[in-house]
Amino acid sequence: MRKNALRTAAAIGALTLGIGLTGCATGSTGGDSDGDTAAEDITVGVAMPTETSERWIADGEAVKSQLEEAGYEVDLQFANDDIPRQQQQLDQMITNGADILIVASIDGTALAAQLANAADKGIPIIAYDRLINGTEDVDFYVTFDNYAVGEQQAQSLLRGLGFLDENNEDTGQTDPKTIEVFAGSPDDNNTKFFYQGAIDTLQPFLDDGRLTIPSGQIDMDTVSTLRWDQATAQKRMEDLLTSTYDGGAKPLDGVLSPYDGISRGIITALENAGYGSTLEAGLPVLSGQDAEIASVKMINDGVQYATIFKDTRKLAAQAVEAATAYAEGEEPEANDTETYDNGVKVVPSFLLESDIVVADNIASLLIDSGYWTEEEVAAGVAQ
Ligand code: BGC
Repeated sequence: MRKNALRTAAAIGALTLGIGLTGCATGSTGGDSDGDTAAEDITVGVAMPTETSERWIADGEAVKSQLEEAGYEVDLQFANDDIPRQQQQLDQMITNGADILIVASIDGTALAAQLANAADKGIPIIAYDRLINGTEDVDFYVTFDNYAVGEQQAQSLLRGLGFLDENNEDTGQTDPKTIEVFAGSPDDNNTKFFYQGAIDTLQPFLDDGRLTIPSGQIDMDTVSTLRWDQATAQKRMEDLLTSTYDGGAKPLDGVLSPYDGISRGIITALENAGYGSTLEAGLPVLSGQDAEIASVKMINDGVQYATIFKDTRKLAAQAVEAATAYAEGEEPEANDTETYDNGVKVVPSFLLESDIVVADNIASLLIDSGYWTEEEVAAGVAQ
């Protein structure tokens, strides 16, 4: 049987493809140690959006190493946040004979032609972390609970401002605070989930007046940050400081930020405007996402207040598990079959959980789990 008939085989519920994949059905380490598995005949194309963010480098490395450990051939490509480049990379993977695709898209709506081509060839397509929209040709989705990530971002901001305790209970603090809000890239399907989760969590405090957004900018399109770009976020923060804060003379207590790179851009703008260089010295409370090493150091140093840790090793393991199911002619196991509607169909999904990181739990969450070493946190650089 042609290897690339994997999707068809899965769809008709074939028990095996006769390709001799004998490893366990569930796992990132599913390959036989004697190397005599069909996984070796299977190439998985892995398309990642960019190498400018550590998060995606870590994802790429984790997916590649776990797939290789399970015996697969891997074709890993990063697209430098360039949509035509990602399209070409996918075309190339298909031409080169990829049997399964794992895709973290740049623009969730820009890959329909490539995926239609893959689908014609029976190649199963797994959306990685970001849902691919507007196409029938996405078979499975592995991600985190993105709405919950947004809730955690807002909770961390509210904790830093003193409104919530560490169990997310209202402390009863009435001292009002000012915030500004940022969202991620509008072409990333995750952005609306993060933002909705965050705004729903902030809303009661906006309603009772304990929180205000002096610029009045809250509409997602207005506060979004194309390509999650740090410089774009820095510029918007600078513009806000000029338009609403007398260039830094008026108090600003916190900023909702959806990603560590964006947080770093915002922090630069705030420092330049004279808000101080640590929380203690008056820097506003900032949230983040991804536990990028440069930001973990800033949290450790009392500069950024919090980030959200999404363990890329676990997401990679889930993607490998889904690929293995397809390789065995089965369907991957979903734990959510309702939330992720891509406009054409509801894509069966596997959602993972995330954690809030603040200075106090860097050791327990990030160092003890081996995600970063103590030396990396001290240096702010991955080694
Ligand atoms: C991911 C986030 C990441 C962002 C920017 C999103 O799709 O879910 O973890 O911060 O992209 O790279």
